[in-house]
Amino acid sequence: MEPPRNRLRGLFRILTGYRLVYLLAIVSIAISSAARTGYSLWLRYFVDDVLPASPVTSDFIRIAAGFIVLAFVQGGLAFASQVLATRSSENVTRRLRNYLFDHIQRLSFSYHDQMPGGDLITRCSSDIEAIRRFFSEQAIGLGRILMLFAINFTAILVLNVRLGLYSVVAIPLIVLVSYFFFKRVSVIYEAYQEQEATLSNTLLENLSGVRVVKAFARQPFEREKFERENWKKYLRGKKLLTMFSLFWPSSDILCGAQLVFGLGIGAMMAIRQEISVGTYLAYAGMIRLVIWPIRNLGRLIVNMSTAMVSYDRVATVLREAREPIDVGYVPEDAKLEGHLVFDHVSFHYGEAAPVLSDISFECQPGQAIALLGSTGSGKTSLVNLVPRFYEYTEGKILLDGVELNQYSAKFLRRKIGIVEQEPFLFSRTIRENITYGVHREVSQEEIESAARAAAIHDAILSFPEGYNTLVGERGVTLSGGQKQRVAIARTLIKDPRILILDDSTSSVDTETEAAIRFALELLMQGRSTLIIAHRIQSVENADLILVLDEGHIVQRGTHAELIAQEGLYRRIYALQTRIEYELESEITGV
Ligand SMILES: Nc1ncnc2c1ncn2[C@@H]1O[C@H](COP(=O)(O)OP(=O)(O)OP(=O)(O)O)[C@@H](O)[C@H]1O
Ligand SMILES: [Mg+2]
Repeated sequence: MEPPRNRLRGLFRILTGYRLVYLLAIVSIAISSAARTGYSLWLRYFVDDVLPASPVTSDFIRIAAGFIVLAFVQGGLAFASQVLATRSSENVTRRLRNYLFDHIQRLSFSYHDQMPGGDLITRCSSDIEAIRRFFSEQAIGLGRILMLFAINFTAILVLNVRLGLYSVVAIPLIVLVSYFFFKRVSVIYEAYQEQEATLSNTLLENLSGVRVVKAFARQPFEREKFERENWKKYLRGKKLLTMFSLFWPSSDILCGAQLVFGLGIGAMMAIRQEISVGTYLAYAGMIRLVIWPIRNLGRLIVNMSTAMVSYDRVATVLREAREPIDVGYVPEDAKLEGHLVFDHVSFHYGEAAPVLSDISFECQPGQAIALLGSTGSGKTSLVNLVPRFYEYTEGKILLDGVELNQYSAKFLRRKIGIVEQEPFLFSRTIRENITYGVHREVSQEEIESAARAAAIHDAILSFPEGYNTLVGERGVTLSGGQKQRVAIARTLIKDPRILILDDSTSSVDTETEAAIRFALELLMQGRSTLIIAHRIQSVENADLILVLDEGHIVQRGTHAELIAQEGLYRRIYALQTRIEYELESEITGV
C-alpha cells in the first residue's frame, strides 16, 4: 500500500485500527474542556442569580457540589483522554516501526547499495519517535485546543457578541505568525534530521570498522570527523531552537496583548453596566481559554512540522518498491534440475558502465563451472545474478529452460546455496547460525554432519559451549577461516540444488583448504555448482573453467585444454606453481 502524499491523510491512515480509541480520547478531552467552561458559567450563575437572591445553606451546598462535579469531570476525562491517546499512539508507532523494519528487509540490493545504514536507523528511531509524539501529544492537543476554543468562544458570543469579537481581533495575526514559523521550522528540522542520519552513519561505520581504525591508528582522524559532524548537528539544533525561542515570545506577546485588550474592554463594559458582574467574571475565566488555545495552537503547529517532516522521511522509504520475491514461476513439484544457460548476458549496476559483457556458457545439471579472473573482473557480480540479487540488463539466463527473471526470487533463493565472499554471521549461537537458512527442524546429527563436511566440527567442539557458543558481534570470536567454514556448513545444510561458492577457501591454510576441497567435491556431486576461486588447484576438476577479464570471458575450457593454450590461465598457473614450488623448497630447505 503506497503511503499517501498528503501528510495528514498519511498520518490518519497510520491510525487504522485505533481510530475509535483515538476518537474516544478526543471526545473525552472535549467533554473535559466543556466542563472547564461550565466552571465559568456556574460562577456567573452563582454571582448573578444566586447571590442577589439571599441564598440559604442548601444553595451554597448545591453550588459547591456543582463545582466539585465539574472538577471531577474535567480532571477525570482529561486523564482518560491522555491514557487513551498514549495507548493508541504507542501501539500505532510500534506497528509502524515493525512494518518499516519488515519493509526495509524486503528492499532490493540496489536500494541498500545506495542507502546508508545510519540513515535507515534514524528513520526507524527518531523519525518514528516524532510521529509518536504527534499522536500522543500534538494531535490530541490539537483536538483539545480546537474544542476549548470553539466552546469558549461560542460561550462568550452567547454572553455578548461584541465582547466575543473583541476577544479574537489579534488571532488572524497570531495564526499568520505561526504559519510563517511552521514553514521555517520544517526546513530547518529536515536539515537537522539529515544531519542526525549522517552522524549515526559515521558512528555505525566506525563501529563496523573499529579494527581498521585501530590498525591504522586513525582514532584522532575519526574523532575529528565525528566531532565535525556532531558540531554540524549542534549548529542545526541551535538554529532549530533559535526558531522556537523566537516564536514563543512573539506569540506570547501577541497573546498577552490580546488578553489585556479583551479584559480591558470587558471591564469597561461592566463599568458601563453593559454586562453584569457575573458575566464579566465568567468572561475573564473564558477569555483565557480562548487565548490559551490560540497561543498553544501556534506551538503545536510549529511542533507538528517536525512530525510532518518525519512522516515524509518514513514514507519515502515505504514508497520504495519491495522486491517482489513471492511472485513468479515455481516449477510444479518445486524441484530444480539445475540446468543453467547464460546466453549473451550483460549487466551493469545502476547507471554505471557494464560490469559483465556478452557472457555465454552452459552448466548441465550436476556440473561444476569455475570462474577465475583478476580482482574486479566481475565474478561476484556474475554469480549474484543467479539468485536474482540483481537483474541482468541484456541477454537471457535460462534455468531448466525457463527464463530466470520469470522465477519467484524466494523459490530461487531457497534452492540456491551461496557461500559469500565475506560471510556474515549473526550474534547468535553457532547452531543458530548453521541452521539459519533451513525452514524446518533439524537434528543435531544433521548439523554435525554439515559441520564435519565443512571441516569445522572439531573446532566447534573445542569451544567451551560447543554448538551453543555465541558468536560475537559480527563473529569476532571466530577466526576468518572458521567463520567461512560455518558459512559453508550453513549453506550445505540447506541442501541446495545449485551451489555458489565465492572464493570460499581463500582465508584458510593449505591443509584445511585441502580438507574443505575434498568435502566440497563430495558435496558438489549431483549439484550444479558455480565456484569462484583464486587458486588453480581448487578449480582443476571443474567441468568448465571460465577465465574472466574486465567482464568478458577471455578463455574457456577444462584445465587440460587451458593449460595447453597460450593465455591468462597458463600464466596464472605458472605463477602459482612457481610460488608453491619455491615455498615448498624453502620449507624443506630449513
Ligand atoms: N554493488 C555494486 N554496485 C556498483 N558497482 C559494483 C557493485 N559491486 C561490484 N561493483 C563493481 O563491479 C565490478 C566487478 O566487481 P565484482 O565484485 O564482481 O568483482 P570480482 O571479480 O568478484 O572481484 P574479487 O575477486 O575482488 O572478488 C567492480 O568494478 C566493482 O567496482
Ligand atoms: Mg568477488
